[in-house]
Amino acid sequence: MNIEGKAWRTIGLQEGGEAVWVIDQTLLPHRFETRSLRSLEDAAVAISTMVVRGAPLIGVTGAYGLMLALQRDPSDGALAAAFEQLNATRPTAVNLRWALERVRDRVAPLPEAERAAAAQAEAGAIAEEDVAMCAAIGDHGLAIFRELAAARPPERQGQPFNVLTHCNAGWLATVDWGTALAPIYKAHRSGLKVHVWVDETRPRNQGASLTAYELGQEGVPHTVIVDNAGGHLMQHGQVDAVIVGTDRTTRRGDVCNKIGTYLKALAAFDNKVPFYVALPASTIDWSIDDGVAEIPIEARSEREVTQIQGQLTPAGGTSSGGNEAPGHLATVQLTPTGSRGFNPAFDVTPARLVSALITERGVAPASEAGLRELYTG
Ligand code: MRU
Repeated sequence: MNIEGKAWRTIGLQEGGEAVWVIDQTLLPHRFETRSLRSLEDAAVAISTMVVRGAPLIGVTGAYGLMLALQRDPSDGALAAAFEQLNATRPTAVNLRWALERVRDRVAPLPEAERAAAAQAEAGAIAEEDVAMCAAIGDHGLAIFRELAAARPPERQGQPFNVLTHCNAGWLATVDWGTALAPIYKAHRSGLKVHVWVDETRPRNQGASLTAYELGQEGVPHTVIVDNAGGHLMQHGQVDAVIVGTDRTTRRGDVCNKIGTYLKALAAFDNKVPFYVALPASTIDWSIDDGVAEIPIEARSEREVTQIQGQLTPAGGTSSGGNEAPGHLATVQLTPTGSRGFNPAFDVTPARLVSALITERGVAPASEAGLRELYTG
C-alpha cells in the first residue's frame, strides 16, 4: 500500500539477505522510519517491543529471525534455541508459532550448509503467500460490503457505507493489504463510498496511530473515535458493519483479538449490526476449541496503561516543564503516581457473536463445520 504515494510493504530483505528491513511502527504516525534487523536478537526485540506487530507480520518477522539465526549458526542446537526465543516473544498470535514451525520443518532435514538459504526461501514464500491471502480476503469482504450497501433503505443509498474497526488489522499488521482493512481498500478503490470509524484502541492506540495513518495515506475517509463510542454509534444507526482481524481463531470459530474487541461484538449483537472477522489460514489454531479457556492472553507492561506517547503540539508541554520543541515525541503519565495498571492485550469473542469469518478461501460461519468446509471440504 501507499505512503506519500509510493508503494510499500512492511518487511523485506536487504544487503543480499544478510539483513531484514522493517518499518518502525513505534514511531508512527509521526515519523516514518525503517530499521534493519541483523540478528536473531534484533528480530526478537523488534517483535516484543512492537516495532513490528500484527499477527501475520509477527509470523513473517519470526521466520526471517530464524534465517538470521541460521546464518550465524546452522546447528540443530542453534535452530532449537532460536525457535524457542522467537516463539516466546509474544504468546497470543498463533501465526508466529505457525511460521516458525514452517521454517524449522523445512530446514531441519537439510545439511547445515543449506539451512540459511532454505530458511530465506521459506520466509520469502510465507511473505508472498500472506500478500496473496490478504488480497483474496479483500475480494471476499468487498462482495459482502457491496451486498450490505445495496440492501440499505432507499434514503441511505448513495451515502457512505460506515464500517467500524478496532486496533490495526491493516497492511501494517501484515505484509501488504491487511486483513480487516483489505475489503475497505478494495471498496474504496472500486468506487464504493466507504467511511471508517476507527477505534483509538487503548492502551497502545494502534487505531489512532496506525489505522488512521494507513487510511489517510490511501485517501480513505475515516474518523477516529474513543473506544467507548462504538456502542452509541451503533444504537443510532451509524455503523453498517464491524470488521476486525484476529490473532488466533479456534477450530470452533472463537476469535481472539485486541483487547476491547469483545465489547464491540456485544454491542454489535445487541444492535443487529453484522460483526465480521477477517483472517488468513495461518491464524487458525486447529488444536484448540474454547478460546476463553485455552488461548494464552499476553499481559503487557502496566506502563502502557499509566502512560501515553504522542507528539508535542505547538502549545504542548510535558510534565518536565514543557521545554521540548513541537514535533518531539513525548511520553506522559496519565495516572496518579502509585496507581497500578493492568494490561491484558487481547480478549476472546465467542463464535456466537461473530456473523461470519472472511478468509482467503471464502466466507464461512464461525463454527467448526464452517471452517472445515472451507479448509478440508
Ligand atoms: O498487539 P498488536 O498490535 O500486535 O495486535 C494486533 C491485533 O490485534 C490485530 O487485530 C491482529 O493481529 C490481526 S492483524 C491482521
